[in-house]
Amino acid sequence: LTHEQADQVRHAWDKVKHNEVEILHEIFKEHPDIQNKFPQFAGKDLETIKEEASFATHATRIVSFLTEILSLAGNPDTIPAIKTRVNEMGQNHRNRGVTKEQLNEFRHTLTDYVKHHGSLDGDAEQAWNQAFDCIYEVIFSNL
Ligand code: HEM
Repeated sequence: LTHEQADQVRHAWDKVKHNEVEILHEIFKEHPDIQNKFPQFAGKDLETIKEEASFATHATRIVSFLTEILSLAGNPDTIPAIKTRVNEMGQNHRNRGVTKEQLNEFRHTLTDYVKHHGSLDGDAEQAWNQAFDCIYEVIFSNL
């Protein structure tokens, strides 16, 4: 990603990242199989768990992780740091039995959310897709 592309992705992300609970709710609503991988949420009513502190805590973890990675994007010097963090995430998720299909579902719902609640089109959409292609290549190499 060029510096300009990274800024476009961060700009799109900045508009939605404070909606962490709504984003996780959307992902679980569209993909109950993802919800069911969480021991603390499996089989529970989504509208009920959405109000619980543990739901917000987890939503914040995901959003903070993406914010951290995107803050490092667009600079050749920070590529090793990105790879280290994303490899860690990939290994943790492999150990939890998360599948490529689930990760793709997650990406799809998240991207739709950003499109509809922030702004993502033209060059910014292309930059967003390129960023996630890079992140996912590293995650998938761990599965
Ligand atoms: C933690 C499942 C995708 C970021 C977790 C945990 C589970 C899980 C079960 C442990 C929760 C806990 O112990 O409280 C899944 C499933 C996914 C998925 C089924 C399917 C798509 C993602 C994605 C990201 C992400 C795409 C980031 C972009 C995190 C982070 C943590 C976490 C940062 C906390 C750190 C850790 O324990 O690894 N995930 N996750 N997850 N997940 Fe995911």
